[in-house]
Amino acid sequence: MASLTFRALNKSYGETRVLKGVDAAVGDGEYLVLVGPSGCGKSTLLRCIAGLEEITSGDLLIDDKRVNDLAPRERNVAMVFQSYALYPHMTVRQNMGFALRVAKRPQAEIDTAVDKAAAMLGLEDLLDRLPGQLSGGQRQRVAMGRAIVRRPAVFLFDEPLSNLDAALRHHMRVELKRLHKALDATIVHVTHDQVEALTLADRILVLNQGVVQQCGSPRELFDHPANTFVATFIGSPSMNLLPVKGEGETCLVEGVEGALAVPGEGEFTLGIRPTDLAVTAPGDGPVATIEVVESMGAEALLHAELGPHHIVAQVKEPTPWRAGDRVGLRPQVVHRFDRTSGERLP
Ligand SMILES: Nc1ncnc2c1ncn2[C@@H]1O[C@H](COP(=O)(O)OP(=O)(O)OP(=O)(O)O)[C@@H](O)[C@H]1O
Ligand SMILES: [Mg+2]
Repeated sequence: MASLTFRALNKSYGETRVLKGVDAAVGDGEYLVLVGPSGCGKSTLLRCIAGLEEITSGDLLIDDKRVNDLAPRERNVAMVFQSYALYPHMTVRQNMGFALRVAKRPQAEIDTAVDKAAAMLGLEDLLDRLPGQLSGGQRQRVAMGRAIVRRPAVFLFDEPLSNLDAALRHHMRVELKRLHKALDATIVHVTHDQVEALTLADRILVLNQGVVQQCGSPRELFDHPANTFVATFIGSPSMNLLPVKGEGETCLVEGVEGALAVPGEGEFTLGIRPTDLAVTAPGDGPVATIEVVESMGAEALLHAELGPHHIVAQVKEPTPWRAGDRVGLRPQVVHRFDRTSGERLP
């Protein structure tokens, strides 16, 4: 186990600044999930922790020790890469035991560790195969097994479940949670999968263009997003954002007739999650027109036009609403953001 601290961490490739003043900490034994759009610097941050990239400026601490200049093998960190690099000429068993063999551990210990990890990952029947004889998802599990066998202080996972089918991904999610408990490990895990982020994380760190947007528990990010970027990035389907003008007890949506029953003053951006938008028969307030009803079994998404704005409401099935219906809207829970900066308003 170990804690990680980033202090004003910058990483540039030539003129290109990829990480811009990252300040964050990962507690001892914490599961931190790193999310953000493609190219925002997630893999780069993991590679800086692993020691595979030189940090341009700022500090990286493992426990309380500055490790900027420490070689990767001296950091006790194991990384599972986005493109899992296995040794092609070694069997699964040899791949998984490699680090322990290099460390000159006794064969019996290596075998036990590999068998245990293989059972955890459902790889028992594949131990004698070569990587070339495995599917993408199987290779990904071997890569993960290789990290587990090492029992490092810190695990770095770069989209480790991206090649698995839905059922296996769910199974592995549960396994990862179990693994985290069993090993008391500190984990930094990059993913594009919302469910993965929300279910696995003690805290989620949201990165955009190399800048930390927010770091907090899944609940905090969902209930109190710090800005419109986090508001629309976390939660699926995305939060609706509408430009409005507060009139005291109600507010007017730009380009739309009728007032919403939402208090506010002056111009701001109103945020409403699809699950927090009740749909009613048309009343005094603004009237939206349903364009598409997307049924998802227990729930349906109503895509509607509200004047020039597109909005989405998530309702229980069976829903009486059909495409073409004119409906009223009643926001249940709302968020307010600054129109210019996008920052959350009190
Ligand atoms: N060796 C390099 N030289 C120059 N630029 C690089 C290098 N490696 C990464 N980059 C750039 O740094 C930025 C961040 O890349 P990174 O791989 O960290 O993104 P990411 O958040 O992991 O994206 P994805 O979700 O697609 O994996 C990208 O714009 C990328 O093109
Ligand atoms: Mg990446």
